[in-house]
Amino acid sequence: MRFHERVLTILCALVLCSAGCTLPNNPQEAENQPAVQVQLPRASGDHQVLSLLEDPELQNMGEKIFFDNTLSDPPGVSCSTCHDAVAGWGGPDSAVNLAGNIYPGAVPTRFGNRKPSSAAYATYAPILHTELEEDDVLFVGGNFWDGRATGQILGNPAADQAQQPFLNPVEHNLKDAAHVVACVEKSAYAGEFAELCKRLGLDKTLDAPTQIQLKFGYIGLALAAFEQSGKVNAFTSKYDAYLRGRASLTASEQRGLELFENKGKCADCHPSSLGPDGELPLFTDFTYDNLGIPANPDNPWYRMPPDINPLGRNWIDEGLGGFLKTQPQYAAYVKDNLGKHRVPTLRNVDKRPDAQFEKRYGHNGYFPDLASITHFYNTRDVKPFIKHVGGLDAQGNWPQPEVADNVNTDEMGDLKLTEQEENDILAFLKTLNDGFEAR
Ligand code: HEC
Ligand code: HEC
Repeated sequence: MRFHERVLTILCALVLCSAGCTLPNNPQEAENQPAVQVQLPRASGDHQVLSLLEDPELQNMGEKIFFDNTLSDPPGVSCSTCHDAVAGWGGPDSAVNLAGNIYPGAVPTRFGNRKPSSAAYATYAPILHTELEEDDVLFVGGNFWDGRATGQILGNPAADQAQQPFLNPVEHNLKDAAHVVACVEKSAYAGEFAELCKRLGLDKTLDAPTQIQLKFGYIGLALAAFEQSGKVNAFTSKYDAYLRGRASLTASEQRGLELFENKGKCADCHPSSLGPDGELPLFTDFTYDNLGIPANPDNPWYRMPPDINPLGRNWIDEGLGGFLKTQPQYAAYVKDNLGKHRVPTLRNVDKRPDAQFEKRYGHNGYFPDLASITHFYNTRDVKPFIKHVGGLDAQGNWPQPEVADNVNTDEMGDLKLTEQEENDILAFLKTLNDGFEAR
């Protein structure tokens, strides 16, 4: 959480209220309130790229690519294998989620090392950059848990991100950009793709490798455009309806919201209020933190052969710090960012096709449900860590963190929430699922 944002939030709340705040404060009032004018947030990034992301033709093309399972080797895997609307654009296979929430790719014996993040609301991440907060250098933006899709290639992190799964041996497993382009040019929508390349200005006199790079760029931009469309960034949750003045929260949800914003400190990193121009909140400030989450012993990555995971059982997920090690300009900041992961949106955090559907939480799927991660925020530091992995032990102790450096002790660990208060926060989190009401 950034200090200046906290101040801004307080100021905005004052301004809003002095201008005659129309947000319903208690559930009974909502029905009688006029609808509130809210806005969709603006995606950040390069101006030209943002207009491409709003382009309906690019959005349609991106949708076709996203669901096309011929773009993998062997064929069978599409983006939607690991990101589907029914699961809030996270992993849609309940059995995989139950086993640790880490997905196999096109080669069925090869698993990745982290839980699929939601592909929704990812286009809003700013290009990875640093900000100065008091004397600390703070990293903000980027896609992936560790921020390595920076947005510096195509002008938007989600567009940079969208190129990477195709070439990842544990995901789509295609050899190189030329193969990705060749697959798209053999697809059922090859004609439309050629038209789009022409409209975007592809110069057919350029040499073949340059044309491939440009076409691979259009593929990344088209996927990000689909993710930016109302089909993915829906803003149709009960909480959105509440902010629009069209729904009321139950007493428990209302208490949960209050706890989320105050005693629980959740909104410090997962902002929940309207922006200065009435923009709907994204439930992430795109900063990075180490929550002290333990390693997940069920992570199938530990069992991958040395050509996939050279460190085997000794692999440690260093998060942002691990990525910064590969960036010479950021070498001085590696140590301060070991173990930090990007704050995920909490939109759709509980979205599931039915009540039996399993979902795990945290970048490595350590937590079996929302209740346990909420309990972790509340009690992590109440009982000391012990050298034991795999969940709470018989005495109710939490295991030690995977990375002991940089654990956030200012905003979590001993929140003194009662059981009822934890339950109220859970009730509020369930209001963030899209599909409650059309925009
Ligand atoms: C085999 C599973 C798998 C497939 C297939 C897959 N992803 Fe992912 N996706 C993941 C995982 C795992 C992560 C998190 C990885 C990390 O952070 O290191 C992720 C992260 C993302 C994110 C980051 C969101 C954020 O807020 O940072 C986006 C966006 C995304 N994927 C979109 C896509 C698109 C588009 C495709 C198809 C081109 C795709 N994914 C294919 C598993 C998959
Ligand atoms: C200091 C910043 C910060 C605060 C405060 C904070 N969070 Fe988080 N939250 C994060 C980060 C960072 C992650 C990802 C951590 C990881 O997986 O390593 C996360 C992850 C989560 C997840 C898992 C999402 C997923 O898709 O796996 C949930 C749920 C969550 N937070 C809820 C809450 C609640 C509820 C509170 C208040 C009790 C809260 N957070 C307070 C930063 C914060």
